Amino acid sequence: MNITIEIGDFRQIQTDAVIIPILEDDLHNDLLLAADSALEGRIQSLLNLGDFKGKLKSTAVIYTNGSINAPRIILIGLGKFSELDTEKVRQVAGHTAKYARDLGIESLAVPIPPEAQDDWIQGAVEASLLSLYEFKQHQTEDDNDENENKKLNSLTLLVSSDIEKASLDRAVNRGNTIADGTTLARDLSNQPSNHLTPTQLAEKAKEVAASTGLKCTIFDKATLEEKGFRTLLAVSQGSAEEPRFIILEHTPVDDEKDTVVLVGKGITFDTGGISLKSGSGMHEMKHDMSGAAAVLGAMQVIGHLKPNLHVIGLIAASENMPGSTAIKPGDVVTSYGGKTIEILNTDAEGRLILADALGWTAQYEPQGVVDLATLTGAVITCLGHIAAGALGTDDALIEKVKKAGEKTHERVWELPLWDDYDEGVKSTVADVKNIGDGTSGTIAGAAFLKKFAEGYPWVHLDIAGTAWGMKGSTYIPESASGYGVRLLVQLVEDW
Ligand code: BES
Ligand code: MG
Ligand code: ZN
Repeated sequence: MNITIEIGDFRQIQTDAVIIPILEDDLHNDLLLAADSALEGRIQSLLNLGDFKGKLKSTAVIYTNGSINAPRIILIGLGKFSELDTEKVRQVAGHTAKYARDLGIESLAVPIPPEAQDDWIQGAVEASLLSLYEFKQHQTEDDNDENENKKLNSLTLLVSSDIEKASLDRAVNRGNTIADGTTLARDLSNQPSNHLTPTQLAEKAKEVAASTGLKCTIFDKATLEEKGFRTLLAVSQGSAEEPRFIILEHTPVDDEKDTVVLVGKGITFDTGGISLKSGSGMHEMKHDMSGAAAVLGAMQVIGHLKPNLHVIGLIAASENMPGSTAIKPGDVVTSYGGKTIEILNTDAEGRLILADALGWTAQYEPQGVVDLATLTGAVITCLGHIAAGALGTDDALIEKVKKAGEKTHERVWELPLWDDYDEGVKSTVADVKNIGDGTSGTIAGAAFLKKFAEGYPWVHLDIAGTAWGMKGSTYIPESASGYGVRLLVQLVEDW
């Protein structure tokens, strides 16, 4: 869908429908009165009958019979002004775009009141684009879905002056760019593992870098051996697919700026390895690279928006397979930084590949490191699909991440990472073991990672619940959500 800003009047514009957003506690605003008088009082009749009250996401279609150029006016409720926030605007925008698409409408226009805030506009742009997301790359036949041939192609934001147009430009551009980054992350997470191997993920990163001006370096298997990424290599050794380590870099004009590193778990399929997972639902483990997808999606946005901050995106990519050369429970491997790890469960593989990535990170001397990983089923037991678990070593960084999560509604909830939990990951044969004592699984995962995230402020986000399976949003599907892209971009921009 193409979103543009035009100077014009809703009565004159040629479009399939004009959207009139209405607050429950302001049923007499100027726009509504103008629309009502153009329609000779028909909106007022509708309101008098109580058929439309402006409740959040309520909808009424009025046929204009030539009173204005557009054949329809669609009233959309925004709920009460005191309760309106950016997330409600996103929910309304997502609802509206889908509603229009399902009616078979191809073009929409919305008059924007001058008091609309920039983050509402940006949120509305993001949500209307993201609500129409579908993953249909592998379907060649018409499935008789009645929405199949319906396509909402354009959304015009109508303003009354050049000044308003200029002020909306930035919000619309950012909304478009961020929606594109989120769409990329969703596509990658939805992609079956035979169409997205670690090698293919690295190719994708190269494409993103080429189209945005980011610097991209890929370590292939030979390079990983030479540099000593032994734990990443260990996880990949049961698979016919080679691992990759991906480095994306955005350098600001001002090279005095802080360095922030974003690290993503990129397991393109997690069978569990020799500690094999059970069959039911295993296919969903194609999205075990959702942390990597969020980092790549965010780096694409950062490459376009070019914030004044040094940002590095790191992705450790591998399959976790139970081949005859696979790692076995009891094996001991040495991480990039030299610490030894006793592998007691090969299904706790995410923390293994991240051990090398977090060790590699120290050389950048970063002021902040955030890793995103679909690390534990336990985080779903704890927080459902509503919030990611956040654990880290630096209160100020955790606060920053929380704020970015609130603003974007990609919320995080902090779990403790007291030293008391270190005991759980102590090994009797190596420096550390890759599982805890069976309690507090999400914290055990983070307690393990903490051993490798040394020398910089660090926050780990366990996104196993939020990357997939969210319900009840108008703009996030139940499959891959693209969680993390918007949060990371916000974090970087507010740094
Ligand atoms: N990729 C899984 C975690 C996961 C579970 C992601 C559900 C998305 C949805 C991870 O590699 C894993 O298998 N974790 C184990 C850890 C355990 C063996 C300590 C788990 O959560 O069971
Ligand atoms: Mg696993
Ligand atoms: Zn995994």
